[in-house]
Amino acid sequence: MTTASHPVTILGTGSYAPERVMTNEDLSQMVDTSDEWITTRTGIRERHIAADGETASDMAVRAARLALDSAGLTADAIDAVIVCTMTPDQPCPATACFVQEKLGLEGKTAFDLTAACSGFIYGLQVASALVHAGTHRHVLLIGAEKLSAIIDWTDRSTCVLFGDGAGAVVLGRGPDHRHGIIGVRTGANGAQAELLHVPGGGCRIPASEQTVRDRLHFLKMNGREVFKHAVRGMEQVARDLLDEHGYVAGDLDLVIPHQANLRIIDTLGSRLEIPPERFFNNLERYGNTSAASIPLALDEAVRAGRVRPGDLILMLAFGAGLTWGASLLRWSGNNQPVPLSEN
Ligand code: ACO
Repeated sequence: MTTASHPVTILGTGSYAPERVMTNEDLSQMVDTSDEWITTRTGIRERHIAADGETASDMAVRAARLALDSAGLTADAIDAVIVCTMTPDQPCPATACFVQEKLGLEGKTAFDLTAACSGFIYGLQVASALVHAGTHRHVLLIGAEKLSAIIDWTDRSTCVLFGDGAGAVVLGRGPDHRHGIIGVRTGANGAQAELLHVPGGGCRIPASEQTVRDRLHFLKMNGREVFKHAVRGMEQVARDLLDEHGYVAGDLDLVIPHQANLRIIDTLGSRLEIPPERFFNNLERYGNTSAASIPLALDEAVRAGRVRPGDLILMLAFGAGLTWGASLLRWSGNNQPVPLSEN
């Protein structure tokens, strides 16, 4: 029997990627780049691109339904919907409200959370606090992004990196006291906001004909600087979280890092002395899907049998803000309690 003393856990996962696939070869027809450059510098081979009318909330709903199925729950068991996104359907209202309506969750809490590529880990911290507090029994936490809508398709330094998609989890109390979320840490440094940002469209530089002409509604990035901060930031937050809970990197069964660049992940692995086979990566097929990246990878890892009950899993994120975050959890399986002693 599940009780209020059990840790909060992930009860189910789901993900969705749009049908259209854009390969590196396709991109080389659009900008001055090559499959060789993109593959060796990033590890990305292809990404999914949403259809014209397909929105972040459409993708979120597809992932959410699968997460509900995997948790063995129906939508009416959900008390809150949180959508982590930097590409909302509209500036107002929250994309979560569109998701809530599409899932038929009238009256339930719904809000967006913006922490760019760290959004899902921030969301995990907030959503698990809601469940822990007892105000919400089950929370649907979704990362959904249509980055293709804010990418400058004439800028080869950014357009090759990103893709669209969604990943979702259902959070609730775990099956016993030994499985579930052990800890979450997040942080930010707003002094480095300009390393990765969309300058126009907010109240500082409202949309105008001029902002469109100046291409201020597109994502701008200092890739080299972001790379360095990403490695340092994720290494530090991983060490701090492991230390805080009395673990070392060697205890980890699986690491699910933000899927931005294989070179970032490999460098992180060497610094933390975690062998490459302990990382789950799928950026080769999706590129960087920002807040969707970790839940999308988690869902694929679960469905591929890479996550077993009792596994110690570290999720690591880094993104615009700059922001970062890490989460440590003992996997409980989908509504299937398996005691650690049986592993
Ligand atoms: N194709 C061919 N050449 C390119 C391309 C391209 N697509 N893009 C850049 N180049 C060129 C540059 O113009 C430069 O040429 P130059 O030497 O003649 O000036 C050369 O390649 C090297 O450019 P760098 O920027 O130094 O390349 P680098 O090895 O740093 O790789 C990259 C660039 C892939 C962007 C890397 O810096 C990176 O991954 N950074 C981190 C990005 C990231 O993770 N961002 C997401 C954070 S998450 C979020 O919140 C959205």
